[in-house]
Amino acid sequence: MNIAVIGAGYVGLVTGACFAELGNQVTCIDVNKDKITKLRDGILPIYEPGLDTMVVSNMQQGRLNFATSLAELTAHPEVIFIAVGTPSDKEGAADIKYVLEAAKDIGSHIKQYCVIVDKSTVPVGMADQVREAVLQALATRALSVDFDVVSNPEFLREGAAIEDFMRPDRVVIGLASDNAKRIMLDLYLPILRSAERLYFMNVKDAEMTKYAANAMLATRISFMNEMAVLCDKMGVDIENVRIGIGSDARIGNAFLYPGCGYGGSCFPKDVRALVKMAEQNGVEPFILNAVEKRNMMQKQFLAQKVKQVFGDDLSTITLGVWGLSFKPGTDDMREASSLVLLEEVIKRGARVKAYDPAAMPVAREIMPKEWFDTGKLTLTEQQNEALKDVDALLLVTEWKPFCYPDIGVMKSLMRKKIIFDGRNQYDPQQMRAAGFDYHGIGRPSGDC
Ligand SMILES: NC(=O)c1ccc[n+]([C@@H]2O[C@H](COP(=O)([O-])OP(=O)(O)OC[C@H]3O[C@@H](n4cnc5c(N)ncnc54)[C@H](O)[C@@H]3O)[C@@H](O)[C@H]2O)c1
Repeated sequence: MNIAVIGAGYVGLVTGACFAELGNQVTCIDVNKDKITKLRDGILPIYEPGLDTMVVSNMQQGRLNFATSLAELTAHPEVIFIAVGTPSDKEGAADIKYVLEAAKDIGSHIKQYCVIVDKSTVPVGMADQVREAVLQALATRALSVDFDVVSNPEFLREGAAIEDFMRPDRVVIGLASDNAKRIMLDLYLPILRSAERLYFMNVKDAEMTKYAANAMLATRISFMNEMAVLCDKMGVDIENVRIGIGSDARIGNAFLYPGCGYGGSCFPKDVRALVKMAEQNGVEPFILNAVEKRNMMQKQFLAQKVKQVFGDDLSTITLGVWGLSFKPGTDDMREASSLVLLEEVIKRGARVKAYDPAAMPVAREIMPKEWFDTGKLTLTEQQNEALKDVDALLLVTEWKPFCYPDIGVMKSLMRKKIIFDGRNQYDPQQMRAAGFDYHGIGRPSGDC
């Protein structure tokens, strides 16, 4: 099948590379010319395990190409995915301008029937707006071209995106046309091998499914974070509580891990967008508001613990930070907990030495230049360099190499033996036995 993917970011690039891997002819299109030039040279704009190899091999096989506009395509695509960003606008609603621009671009170039697929996370009713934008652009060309608009929300996780795309739990497709259904079935059957996990529904149902899924996962995280804060106060170990409730088949273990807040390009903005949708429809979003509020507070939790130990003035201390990306396996720092933590401790005078296996180039770009120039923030070449002469270590992202460190080396490098474990990765008893003052999330001192 001939496919175009508009937007070559985390979702667009994975979608394009995976469909090319399945034998389709794919062109990924992005308005960012620099990104496209680099991609043509096999240089990826993001870190995602396995994606670079897949992109390069499919380019070499001639199945994957890159362009800056639909105008560059030589063959007409049967399916056009829209995978552009939908960040929060000033009010917290999803900013749909990039989706509408993509739709206009499609209407300005299509010449024959195609299926337009919203893969971006878009507010309920967006497919109708996309249809309208395409029709308007066709009208300016005095053309009538048949097309369908389909909603096919993406559920991949950064860090495991290829695996998730190629072996999804389910594929959700919202549509209202038999022609589009046949094409989408053809497209996805190689991935699913049977249609059992392919759920067809109305377009609006599919649009809402994506928001409801992310809001549910964010809710579980915020619920556990709230439990952890309570456990902290009451001398209860949240890790035992987590195991105790997660083993209940009705609850399950997934997304029950307390920490220093969720971030990334999806949960925060999607919860906010759902809040806006609820308000616009006269529904008070009690739960969603609480999920968001708990998360904002949780992002401050580590800094609060640091202040409890060192006081409000941190100008005499140096902190080591392990992990900057919003989660392991990605270089994505959008709404990462590390941003809130660094802002707070640096504002109070602390110096920070930070290390991340993938996100340091991004950190160099987005962190205030003044922090680097004044030596407030140093990014270290190696993990253990971030421990040298520090007064405490803060674990912010649970990358594997941080979870099993050499305790002897840590002790020899750190000035003071204090650990703030923002992801509950260490055994408090083991760390305390090794001489560390250990602070987790909902893991009070004492026997567990
Ligand atoms: N990142 C994830 O893990 C994830 C998972 C599921 C769903 N989503 C959703 O997928 C969508 C894309 O997310 P992302 O993380 O890939 O975003 P991204 O910011 O990484 O990539 C978006 C890309 O679209 C390009 N773009 C913007 N307007 C364009 C236009 N008119 N024509 C061509 N290119 C254009 C940008 O230059 C950028 O490269 C969002 O709606 C997001 O909520 C993301």
